[in-house]
Amino acid sequence: MKRNIILTGFMGSGKTTVGIQLSYRLKCRFEDTDKIIEKEQGCTISEIFDQKGEEAFRNLETECLKQLMEEKHPFVLSVGGGLVVREKNRMLLEKLGTVVYLRIRPETVYERLKSDTTRPLLQSSDPFMTIKTMLAKRISFYEGCCDITVDVDGKNLEEIVNEIIGDERTQY
Ligand code: S3P
Repeated sequence: MKRNIILTGFMGSGKTTVGIQLSYRLKCRFEDTDKIIEKEQGCTISEIFDQKGEEAFRNLETECLKQLMEEKHPFVLSVGGGLVVREKNRMLLEKLGTVVYLRIRPETVYERLKSDTTRPLLQSSDPFMTIKTMLAKRISFYEGCCDITVDVDGKNLEEIVNEIIGDERTQY
């Protein structure tokens, strides 16, 4: 593997789980923008949203991508589900590597995240409606900056990882 692989997609699409497994199989490092930001800021994503707001968080995501541009060795990267909303971030992603969009249905996101408390943007009185609305708004961003789209509904981890590794666009 010579080029980085970047996993994008809505919250709950499995970017981190798939990314870790992919990095094992490809024998390279795994990175995650949320984890990098939490480590550098010394607090959780929820605390950053609470104390500084979403805009400040999006700035941190942009800084994180710029840092990753300097890395010398190939890696698999999972990025936060809202990172693609910023045009600058989409441009950085395209430069950074092969972008894989893990496409998921809102029903599946809801099933997976209905008890989650770590995603500040989903802590609403009607999480399913929030998921549906946010996903609909973001679809064009995910589609616009990806090289490969993988549907994840109804597939297990191995099937998803095999599909990514088997795609000719991740072969270099
Ligand atoms: C967000 C997704 C989260 C995290 C933050 C905001 C979003 O990452 O970056 O809560 O706006 O979709 P995951 O997609 O890894 O859950």
